[in-house]
Amino acid sequence: QKIAVIVVAAGSGTRAGRADGPPKQYRSIGRRPILARSLGAFMALPAVGRIVCVIDPAFVAEYRTAIDGLAADPRLAEPVAGGATRQASVLAGLEALAPFAPDLVLIHDAARPFVAPVAITRLIDRLADIPAALLAHPVVDTLKQADADGRVIGTRARDGLWAAETPQGFRFAPLLDAHRRAAAEGRTDFTDDAAVAEWAGLPVAVVASEPGNLKITSLADLEAADRRLRMEEF
Ligand code: CTP
Ligand code: MG
Repeated sequence: QKIAVIVVAAGSGTRAGRADGPPKQYRSIGRRPILARSLGAFMALPAVGRIVCVIDPAFVAEYRTAIDGLAADPRLAEPVAGGATRQASVLAGLEALAPFAPDLVLIHDAARPFVAPVAITRLIDRLADIPAALLAHPVVDTLKQADADGRVIGTRARDGLWAAETPQGFRFAPLLDAHRRAAAEGRTDFTDDAAVAEWAGLPVAVVASEPGNLKITSLADLEAADRRLRMEEF
C-alpha cells in the first residue's frame, strides 16, 4: 500500500511569536530545526512513500534551509502553498497528493517535533481495519467548567475523553472527498482532520500515543524544548 504524509507548516506561529525571526517551525531546538525533526520521524519509516510539506511561500528560503540534509531523500516532494487556516492548508496538501493516488495519508503538524516512529507505525497498523484514526492520550486532569468570571459551574466526567494529537491517518480517497465537501459547504471551522472525517460520517478510532508528543505552541514551549535538547545533545 502507498502511504503519503502531509506535514502542515504554513502557520504564522503567532502565539510563539517573536517580532523578528521566522515562524516557530523554522527555528531550532537543540541543534536542529523543529520542521526537520517533525519530518525526520516519518523519513525513518520505509513504509512511507511520499512526503509533502505545506508552507507559506513567503518563507520558502527558511524552508530550504530547514530541510537541508533531508532534501536528498527522493520521497520528499516540492513544497505546496498553504491557506489561511490549517484546514485549508491540509486541503492544499491533499490536492497536491491526488496524482500520486496514495492508499493512506498521514497528516502531521510541523509543530510536533517529538513524535515517535513507533507511534506512527501503531497508527498505520490501526488503519488496516478503520478508515480514520488519530494518535491521542487519555485526559488525566480533573475537568472544571467555568463561566467568563472564572466561577466554576461544574466538574465534568473525564471517562472516555482523549486529547487529540497528530499524526492523524486516513484512507486517502474518503478524506479528500470529506475535505472537499467541507470546503464547498463553507465549513471552515474544523481544528483537526479527524473532525472533518467525523463530520463526513467516517468511523474514527483513537490510538494511544507515546508520551512526549508535545506541540510547540508558546515561546515558553519552544525555550523549554530547546533547553532540554541542549542538555541531551551536549
Ligand atoms: N498551520 C498551517 N496553515 C495554517 C495554520 C496552521 O499549515 N494556516 C499549521 C502550523 O504551521 C502548525 C499546525 O498547523 O504546524 C498547527 O497549528 P498551530 O500550532 O496553531 O501553529 P500556528 O497556527 O502557526 O500558530 P498560532 O496559532 O500561534 O499562530
Ligand atoms: Mg494556529
